[in-house]
Amino acid sequence: PEQTTSRKLDHLRICSEKEIETGCSGFSDVRIVHSALPEADMDHIDLSCRFLNTTLSSPLFIAAMTGGHPGTTEVNRRLGRAAERFGCAIGVGSQRAALERSDLRHSFSVVREEAPTAFIVANIGAIQLRDHGPAWAEEAVSMIEADAIAIHLNPLQEAIQPEGDHDATGCLKAIEELCSRVSFPVIAKETGSGISRETARNLWNAGVQAIDIGGYGGTSWARVEGVRADEAGDPVQRRLGDDFQSWGIPTVVSLMEVRETGGPVIATGGLRNGLDIAKALALGADMAGMALPLLAPAMESDAALNSKIEEIHRELTVAMFLSGAATIRDMRRVRTYITGDTRDMIQEPGCEKHYGDRSNSRR
Ligand code: FNR
Repeated sequence: PEQTTSRKLDHLRICSEKEIETGCSGFSDVRIVHSALPEADMDHIDLSCRFLNTTLSSPLFIAAMTGGHPGTTEVNRRLGRAAERFGCAIGVGSQRAALERSDLRHSFSVVREEAPTAFIVANIGAIQLRDHGPAWAEEAVSMIEADAIAIHLNPLQEAIQPEGDHDATGCLKAIEELCSRVSFPVIAKETGSGISRETARNLWNAGVQAIDIGGYGGTSWARVEGVRADEAGDPVQRRLGDDFQSWGIPTVVSLMEVRETGGPVIATGGLRNGLDIAKALALGADMAGMALPLLAPAMESDAALNSKIEEIHRELTVAMFLSGAATIRDMRRVRTYITGDTRDMIQEPGCEKHYGDRSNSRR
C-alpha cells in the first residue's frame, strides 16, 4: 500500500514536469469539412450532450488522474470544482490505495464534496477487480457517491512497471461478473494504448455500458515508467520503457474501430484542444476526454484550470460554428477527410468498409 500511494506523487510530478507524450494520436490527419454557409450563431452554440442517460453541459470529460495520497487532495478538489462549475463529467484516479487504506479516502471523496451534482466516475484496475471481486467496485463507487465506474485496462504499464502485475488472465470474466451484479454503469477504459474492435466486442459482450478508448498519442505510460526507472537508476528497465514508447493503437484509429462495434464511446488519448474534441465528435465519439492538458493548471490554481477549460470550450465552439453545427448532435454528423498514416491504418481490411459506410451515410 505504501508503494501504491507514493507512486501517485511520482506520477503527478513526472507528468507535469517531464516530456511524457509520444507518437501521434492521428488528429493531425483529420480535417473537418468546412461550412462556408453555417446555419448557426456562434454566440449560441449549444455544448450540452447526453451520456448514459444524463445531460451534461459539455462533452469535455475530465479524465481519470489522481487521488490516493494526501498530496493529491488539492488537485482533486480543483478538478471537482471545475467539473461542477462547467457541468463536465469527471473521473477520479485509481482508488486502489484508498481501498487498501481508509485514511486516504478523502483524497477521492473531496471530488464529490466539491461537485455535488456532477457526473462522477469511480476507478479501479481490471486486475484489482479480478483479485478482490465486485465488492471492491461497489466500495469504490460508494466512497465518492459515483454515478458510474471505470475499470481501467493498463497491460502496458503493468508490463513496464518494475512492481507491475504480469498475470492479466481472468480480467474479462471479472468485468462480466461485475456487469451482471451491479446496477451502476460500468465503463471499460484503456490508459493510452487504445482499444481494438476485437477487444471492444468482447467488452460489449461482457456487458459494459461505455468504452473509453484511451488511445495512443498522448500521455505514454511506457515513457512515465521509463522516467521512473531512470530516476531509480535502472537502465535496463529504462530501455524497456523506451522501446515500447511507440506501442499502441492511435486514438483516431481506435475510435473508428470501436465506433463500428456500437455503444457509447469516450475518445481520450492525446486530445489537446477544442478542435481535437470537435474532430473526435465528428468521428462519432459521444464524449471527449483530456487528462494531461488539465494537470498543470489543476496543480496551479482554480483560476488556471478555469481559464484552460474556457479556452478549450472556445476552440470547440469555433470549430462547431465553422462546421455548421449548432449542437453536439449536429457535430456528430459532420463529415471529415482522413489522410496520411491514419488513412492507411483504417483502410486495413475490415476498417475500409466502415469508413466508406460512414462517409456515405452523412452525405
Ligand atoms: C492518468 N490516467 C489514469 N487512468 C486511469 O484509469 N486511472 C488512473 O489512475 C490514471 N492516472 C493518471 C495519472 C496521470 C497524471 C495522467 C496524466 C493520466 C490516464 C488518463 O485517464 C488518460 O486515459 C490518458 O492519460 C490519456 O489521456 P491524455 O493524458 O493523453 O489526455
